[in-house]
Amino acid sequence: MQNILPLIYLIASVTFILGLKMLSSPATARRGNLIAAGGMSIAILGTIFLYTDENGNTLHNHLWIFGGLLIGGVVGTLAAKKVKMTSMPEMVSIFNGMGGACAALISIIEFNEIHRNIHISGTMDPAAFFASTDGTHLLIILLGLIIGSVSFAGSIIAWGKLNGRLKDIVFKGQHVVNILVLILIVSLSAHILIARPADTPLYFYSVVVLSLVYGILFVWPIGGADMPVVISLLNSFTGVAAACGGFLYDNKVMLTGGILVGAAGTLLTILMCKAMNRSLQNVLIGSFGKKPAEGSGTQVAGGSYKEISVSDAAMVMTYANKVMIVPGYGLAVAQAQHVCHDLEKLLESKGVDVRYAIHPVAGRMPGHMNVLLAEADVSYDKLLEMEAANDEFRTVDVVLVLGANDVVNPAAKSDPSSPIYGMPILEVEEAKSVIVNKRSMKPGYAGIENQLFFQPKTSMLFGDAKKALQDLVTEIKSL
Ligand code: TAP
Repeated sequence: MQNILPLIYLIASVTFILGLKMLSSPATARRGNLIAAGGMSIAILGTIFLYTDENGNTLHNHLWIFGGLLIGGVVGTLAAKKVKMTSMPEMVSIFNGMGGACAALISIIEFNEIHRNIHISGTMDPAAFFASTDGTHLLIILLGLIIGSVSFAGSIIAWGKLNGRLKDIVFKGQHVVNILVLILIVSLSAHILIARPADTPLYFYSVVVLSLVYGILFVWPIGGADMPVVISLLNSFTGVAAACGGFLYDNKVMLTGGILVGAAGTLLTILMCKAMNRSLQNVLIGSFGKKPAEGSGTQVAGGSYKEISVSDAAMVMTYANKVMIVPGYGLAVAQAQHVCHDLEKLLESKGVDVRYAIHPVAGRMPGHMNVLLAEADVSYDKLLEMEAANDEFRTVDVVLVLGANDVVNPAAKSDPSSPIYGMPILEVEEAKSVIVNKRSMKPGYAGIENQLFFQPKTSMLFGDAKKALQDLVTEIKSL
């Protein structure tokens, strides 16, 4: 039986890789997720029932294990069923925090195991005992502990900031304080590893506390709006911490899973930063999402804009040859994806060619718009990625911007003083006309004015996206 377990781990590892690959397309993402979840399930069940240690002992505390699985399974299922699409980053954050906590707890348990052995062995000199402990083992314990604790504390702060429970706290010299805490953590860990003092537990638990403090201090000052990038980074930390657990237990599937999460999280963080044209350093210590400095070139002082009525907008779209819909965060907030699909079908029935232009960071999480539109059964071949959409805007009669703002802000191309300067955008101003639906003239995520709204070819259709789309559908039906 023992030989079957490595085979199960191999199959599970393959499903993780397959699942990740399939997640890269909306058409296969759901199946990919299920395949990887299936792989994880057989790995867990295989470990519970088939694992034996070198003395032939099997896992016997099934009540605890299945009790934990049941509680976690019920809480996870309910949370996943209840969560709104716009609150997804919050949920990912808290789940990620739990992963970090698990990895840190594994390190604490493993350390206590070493400590317990001092008494079992009857050695009176703890220093000698710690000195004889395998250095690599101790190093991995410390790495898992530090990274897992930082990820846990940071994720909880990110969760609090995303749901508005915690406000940004910025104080002078906070980066210096952070660096000092980090230096202290590294120094204490080095002391444990090199000197192996008799009071190692005291140093060990100081590292636990300092790592938690560091996680809090590291995430708290970062703008609430930058939390999705931070969560992705913390996610990669959790992966590395879990891989440390796999190393400690010599468990190949845990090691593979951890490394994959670590690598995927790192890649996602890099991709998100690239799509916003910002460095990770700028995200971690920059000031994005806060009010722009006075005199910033992105302000359009006294600019005037024109409004369009629902009936005029309906008319313009119905008689267009080609309409491009640009969905943004506001569409997700309004939960207007279904009625958006209704509008698309209605226009198509009138002979209008309707497409969607998807910006890689529209919304608040990677793939946000793809998931949203897939929920409403919008066909994938109607979705154009940014580069393809930019090639087509010149041939589009009407662009309908639905609750998007930053991703269509021309300041990204024209204003070097803008915080989004250099971010690739959807070049909607290339189309013949643009209708922007949002509730007010308020800025979006980056906190900056959008010059697009003041251009002669742009008309503003104010109102909640769902209501505006419902009104448009009714109006077009009556034409
Ligand atoms: P935003 O720039 O945030 O603009 C969304 C707009 O939607 C707002 O201006 C808001 O204006 C409008 N809105 C809100 N609720 C609405 C409703 N119920 N009905 C109609 N409109 C509504 O969104 P975007 O253009 O999608 O850009 C995304 C931003 O998030 C980018 O800056 C991006 O860098 C950032 N970001 C994205 C990600 C990922 S991975 N997607 C991660 C981190 C950061 P009103 O208040 O006037 O209605």
